[in-house]
Amino acid sequence: MKEIRLGVNIDHVATLRNARGGIHPDPIRAAKIVEVAGADGITVHLREDRRHIRDEDVKNIIKETILPVNLELAGNQQMIEIACALEPNAVCIVPENRQEVTTEGGLSVFGQETRLAPFIEKLKRKKIKVSLFIDPKVQEIEAAVNIGADIVEFHTGRYCDAEEHNKEKELDFLVQAANVANNYGIEVHAGHGLNFNNVVQIAKIKQIKELNIGHFIIGEAIFLGLKTTIQEMRRIISHSRKTALLREIN
Ligand code: PXP
Repeated sequence: MKEIRLGVNIDHVATLRNARGGIHPDPIRAAKIVEVAGADGITVHLREDRRHIRDEDVKNIIKETILPVNLELAGNQQMIEIACALEPNAVCIVPENRQEVTTEGGLSVFGQETRLAPFIEKLKRKKIKVSLFIDPKVQEIEAAVNIGADIVEFHTGRYCDAEEHNKEKELDFLVQAANVANNYGIEVHAGHGLNFNNVVQIAKIKQIKELNIGHFIIGEAIFLGLKTTIQEMRRIISHSRKTALLREIN
């Protein structure tokens, strides 16, 4: 069972910067710390309303970091053209609603195949890997496979927000879905709402190759510092993965 890659979402460094309209704190400085802390990638969400990360930030982060950049954005013509011009390592297409505080659920791929397929084709022609942020449902996985996505990222929000008596059920949806996706040969990522506690069970799902974590890491960095928080997240994820592996061997 391999290590899981950890992508750190630094949107909220920009949220804080924008609150004062100045240049501090600088997302590039955060990206450099993510690099030094040993994470595997940087994730940024370029929202249509540009409430945190802006086009110039994405351009500079891609230029200044050696880590692969995963660019999240809405699946529409204008955003896909911006992504093609920015040329990140990967694009994750997410559902977007201007009124939402954060990405509230997965993308409806099923039923939107004809609209989304040309975007995927366009990005792949630019050698950009394409991920679709979906709920852990078979119908969505199959639709993602059918239109040629490279990756599905499962929205873990329902698991993270579930009351204790529902946690097991939500975890099971993720486990089953990861299995289905893996059998189709599509790479599996996961993220949303993960923290030091709830990441433990998610890290044990062996088909998941990458976790993208933002809000908790940036929030916890206020208390522990960004580098220490990322290192601690990495330690928890690795420990959980290794424990699961040992259990499988024995
Ligand atoms: N993955 C995707 C596709 C997202 O949209 C987000 C939130 O922007 C995350 C991961 C990270 O979620 P969180 O900030 O809750 O850790």
